[in-house]
Amino acid sequence: MDISIAGSELEFDQIAGWKIVGQMLEKVDSVIGLSTGQTTGAMHRMVAELHARHPFDVSQITLFGLDEVNEVPSGFPATCAELLLDEIVRPIGLPLANFLMPDADCGRIEAELQLRGGIDLLMLGIGTDGHLGMNMPGTPFESDTHCTKLRGEMEHRIRSRYVYPEPNPLSGITLGIRTIMRARHIVLVAKGTHKAEIVERALKGPIVPEVPASVLQLHPNCEFLLDPEAGARVRDMA
Ligand code: GLP
Repeated sequence: MDISIAGSELEFDQIAGWKIVGQMLEKVDSVIGLSTGQTTGAMHRMVAELHARHPFDVSQITLFGLDEVNEVPSGFPATCAELLLDEIVRPIGLPLANFLMPDADCGRIEAELQLRGGIDLLMLGIGTDGHLGMNMPGTPFESDTHCTKLRGEMEHRIRSRYVYPEPNPLSGITLGIRTIMRARHIVLVAKGTHKAEIVERALKGPIVPEVPASVLQLHPNCEFLLDPEAGARVRDMA
């Protein structure tokens, strides 16, 4: 496992942004998966900035979101799709037919990804409880794309950040762990002191469903990109 600790948050965003751009340049019909949240917004905007400065062809690139909240009106500003559209999809002018999100028909995105040749690069965030996408602790490693109830940290975070239409119970749709593990290349990205402990558990702890991110220890081509704070407890591995 390759572990890189960037020198600063800005350097982290630049390295992460260039990984996405590099993939797009290397293979013009790349299929790239993205995560939403505080960690990834700036790196998506970095891709948009690089593309604006040095335009390149993205007409055959596929971008998709790893997960989506359910039961909110379409166009609701806090959906993962809207965030990705704002941060990266529209700014680089990706054809909307090449932007995919998981939906209630869970098999659809699985089939679509396969049709497009499988996932070349998956940029993964991590929750402080080790969740990947919306694969919460305890999710079986052999899960495919599925609907999931949002609870604990994730429900709290989403509800506190956005005013959600009440009284919706929050639920979501996420690529499953098996689907994630099929990606040819995974970059797990984490920023901030609050991620240091879970990064250490994911990398050094036992591989158990209670810590979904621990499964990445089994992936043949996964790297961790961390900022100095998130990497504080794994400096010996970098
Ligand atoms: C969220 C999302 C994940 C994301 C992770 C980290 O709940 N479902 O896709 O990667 O948790 O989010 P953040 O970067 O805001 O800490």
